[in-house]
Amino acid sequence: MAKYKIAMLPGDGVGKDVMEAAKLVLDKIDLDADYIYGDVGWEFWKKEGDPLPPRTIHLLQNTDCCLFGAITSKPKDEAEKELRPELQGKGFVYFSPIVRLRQEFNLRTNLRPCKAYTGNPLNYRDDIDLVVFRENTEGLYAGIEFHPVPEELRNTLIKLHPRAKKFEPVSLDDLAISCRIFTRKACQNIVRDAFEYAKKRGYPTVTVVEKPNVIRETSGLMIREARKMARDYPDIKLWETNIDAMCMWLVKNPQNYGVLVSSNMFGDIISDLCAQLVGGLGFACSGNIGDDYAVFEPTHGSAPKYAGKYMVNPLAMIFSCKLMLDWLGENQSADSIEKAVSEVIKEGKVRTYDMGGSDSTIDVAKSIADKI
Ligand code: IPM
Ligand code: MG
Repeated sequence: MAKYKIAMLPGDGVGKDVMEAAKLVLDKIDLDADYIYGDVGWEFWKKEGDPLPPRTIHLLQNTDCCLFGAITSKPKDEAEKELRPELQGKGFVYFSPIVRLRQEFNLRTNLRPCKAYTGNPLNYRDDIDLVVFRENTEGLYAGIEFHPVPEELRNTLIKLHPRAKKFEPVSLDDLAISCRIFTRKACQNIVRDAFEYAKKRGYPTVTVVEKPNVIRETSGLMIREARKMARDYPDIKLWETNIDAMCMWLVKNPQNYGVLVSSNMFGDIISDLCAQLVGGLGFACSGNIGDDYAVFEPTHGSAPKYAGKYMVNPLAMIFSCKLMLDWLGENQSADSIEKAVSEVIKEGKVRTYDMGGSDSTIDVAKSIADKI
C-alpha cells in the first residue's frame, strides 16, 4: 500500500487543465502516493442536483488530503435554470462546493502565500513576500442569511437592539440579512496559526486586518484576541490595520508587510489583491487546512472560456502541490518543486500567455518536471 492516498478533484473548466499539469510534476517527484480521482462541479450539479455528491465526501474521508482544481459558480436562480428539467423546482439549491468542503471538514485555516519570484515580469515589485491567513469557516461565509427576513427575526432584532428600529417600516421582502458570526475560538486559532507561521519562517510582523472602529463586535473580538496572542510571541510585532487602509498600503508599500491575518471575507479580498502584486491568480496557491485534513487549490476560478485549451498558467496549482507536500511533512519534495518553479520563472523561456509567452499549460509543467 502506498504511504499516502490523495484525492484529486479537477472540477470544472481549466481545473482539469491545471490538474493534469500538476500531476506531471507530482509524478516526477515520485511521491509514494495513490491518486484517486473524484467527482465535483457543475456537471454533477446539472445531472444530480449536487455539485459535491456524497460519494465524493466519502472519498475525501478515506484519503489523507485533497487537491482541488476549480469550480464554476453561478447565482442561485441561474444555477437552478441549468438543472436537468426533472430536477427543477424540487428545492435543490446551489451552494459552492469549496465553501462546503471548508465547513464540512472544518478546514479552519486558509493559507495563501504570495511571493514575488525573481524574473517574473508580472511582479508589481520584486521584493514582495506576503502570506495571508484567512479564517475559513465563519464570518460572512457561515451561510446564515435571510431573504425575505422572517418577521420573528426582525421583531427580535428590534427588541434587542435600538438601531434595528429603523428597519421596522421596511417590508420583509425588501430586507436581506447576512450574519457575520465570529467565535473566540476561531479568532484564536487563525491568529495563532499566523504567529506560529511567522515564528517558524522568520517573519518579523503579523498584521491583523479588520475594521474594529466600525464593526465593533466581530472585528473587535479578532483584534482583542490578536493582542492577547501577541504576548506569547515577544519577538514578532503585531500590527493592526483596517481593511480599507490595508488595501492602500498593499499598493503603496507591500514590501513592508509579511504575515497578514484576517477573517473570511476580508481575507478573501486581500488575498486577491496580494495575488495580483506577484503575478495574478495564475500564481496564487492556497491550502485549506484543518486539524487532520486539508484541501489544496489554486485561488483562481474555472475560467470557462479557456477550458480545455491548455492556455492558463499552471503555477498556482503546482504551488498548491508544494503546500500540500509541506503539510504532509515531505519538505524536501516541496522544496524541490519550489526550486524547479523558480528556475523556470527566472529563465523565462517557457511561459504561458499571462506572462507574455505562448507556451501551453503542459509545456510549463514539463519544463518544471524536467528540472526536478
Ligand atoms: C476563493 C474564492 C472562493 C471564496 C469562491 C470561489 C467561493 O474566491 O477561494 O478565494 O470566496 O472563498
Ligand atoms: Mg477569493
